[in-house]
Amino acid sequence: MKLNYVAPCHFGLESVLKYEVSKIGGDDIKVSDGKVAFSGDLNILARANLCLRTAERVGILLAAFKAYTFDQLFDNVYNIPFEEFVGKYDRFPNKGYSINSTLRSVPAIQSIIKKAMAKRLGEKYKHNLLEETESLCQIQFSIIKDEVSIILDTSGDGLHKRGYRRKSGGAPLKETLAAGIIDIARVRENDVICDPFCGSGTILIEAAYKAMNIAPGLSRRFSAQFHSYFPKEIWREEKAKALSEIRRDCDFQAYGYDIEQDMIDLSILNSRKAGVIKRIFFEERSIDEFSYIEQPMKIIANPPYGERLLDINQAHEVYRVMGERLFPRGENSVFIIAPDNDFEAIFSHKANKNRKLYNGMIPCRLYSYFGN
Ligand SMILES: C[S@@+](CC[C@H](N)C(=O)[O-])C[C@H]1O[C@@H](n2cnc3c(N)ncnc32)[C@H](O)[C@@H]1O
Repeated sequence: MKLNYVAPCHFGLESVLKYEVSKIGGDDIKVSDGKVAFSGDLNILARANLCLRTAERVGILLAAFKAYTFDQLFDNVYNIPFEEFVGKYDRFPNKGYSINSTLRSVPAIQSIIKKAMAKRLGEKYKHNLLEETESLCQIQFSIIKDEVSIILDTSGDGLHKRGYRRKSGGAPLKETLAAGIIDIARVRENDVICDPFCGSGTILIEAAYKAMNIAPGLSRRFSAQFHSYFPKEIWREEKAKALSEIRRDCDFQAYGYDIEQDMIDLSILNSRKAGVIKRIFFEERSIDEFSYIEQPMKIIANPPYGERLLDINQAHEVYRVMGERLFPRGENSVFIIAPDNDFEAIFSHKANKNRKLYNGMIPCRLYSYFGN
């Protein structure tokens, strides 16, 4: 069965996700703002949920059509063969959004989609009262300039929830964004990585996952595991494949520092849960005390921005000290995600490259300084 899929991602990480999708074997890959569409069989769908590091979730695109009236919306939704995906007793709520479209009222759109689905499924299952007591088949819709997309979510919890973060620090980086930065920094199996502001350890754990080729979804479940159309065997196959591809013999190692001992304790807890604690050395250390080791390293950092942590003047003082401590960098490369204004001026070094990324709602840039 070949299906069409949609995977949303952070704005700025589309090309990273596109490459990931091609690596897992996705076909017909199309990139647009904040998402990647592709196609493939159910193995690809299971693999996408298990292995994609920068996708926020993966959905099956059930239909795309134009609708200017509620009648058109109802008819097009009614024509979707939902019975192939939604079991007789499954729950099928829907949620979504409408932008620049004739159909604007989200509650009214939700109600029409629900009615069309209930009519279709009621007729197919010869049952007027659908009980909706079993698996969750969450339907998501988007209406952009009158173009409607109807998607069946297959992930459940967002894919950033890897299962290793018990608690987080004050301003954690989302795992999917950390994985994107790791990819842009080209972290490889034998690299040495350092995060001098490690907080809850996200960057280092995601770097270890990438270097060791540990699929990020191995320790969690996905809603499609409970969907009736999805043979359990496929999940078992893909999980076994992902487990067999872990590189346990690589030389990857990492160093995590933070000024707060609580954060170091949290990083240790999370790295242990993630199964990569042996690869990472953690120590309470301020950026003022930073020094390079003999081996060349990649420094990957998400310093305080002066929004959620510290005030703006304190954050700028940290950038100034970073500029002093991390330079001259010799063979070491430095990657810093920081807000999009005067970082380079305060840090006192112009980046070789910078790339726009959003950290939540905060417009940031990833400033890259390549080693000699
Ligand atoms: C934005 S958070 C990092 C979050 C981390 N990337 C994560 O995902 O959890 C910044 C971290 O820098 C630490 N920090 C603040 N000032 C510091 C300094 N002068 N030296 C080292 N760490 C510092 C804070 O304790 C905080 O944990």
